[in-house]
Amino acid sequence: MQYTEKVIDHFKHPRNMGEIEDADGAGEVGNMKCGDLMKIYLKIEVKDGVEYVKDIKFQTLGCAAAVSSSSMMTELAKGKTLKEVKAITKDDINKALGILPKHKYHCSILSANAIKKAIEDYESKKRKK
Ligand code: FES
Repeated sequence: MQYTEKVIDHFKHPRNMGEIEDADGAGEVGNMKCGDLMKIYLKIEVKDGVEYVKDIKFQTLGCAAAVSSSSMMTELAKGKTLKEVKAITKDDINKALGILPKHKYHCSILSANAIKKAIEDYESKKRKK
């Protein structure tokens, strides 16, 4: 199975790539087997008591599927409420990309885990305030 056009597009033109220096939350994950690394940065805005992902950026050191999964995940998350973002799964990322080849499925798992970690970081900082 080959990569879909969407995977190739997100790999060649990644959305929201970079760093947020004053991020409200950040999460880093890695895969021991392939060595790929991913970091997600979140900027949260609270409107009428509801938390939104105002901005999100990623840095990924890894394969084409890891880069496109990160890019797609940021698109799925941007502007959404934290509750909606928490509900994003690896399957959502996969479906949005048009399904990754089986041996690349773990790359979408990495993205789903990275955003969960960034949210956990944001929530733990919030608790400490
Ligand atoms: Fe491991 Fe892509 S090969 S994240």
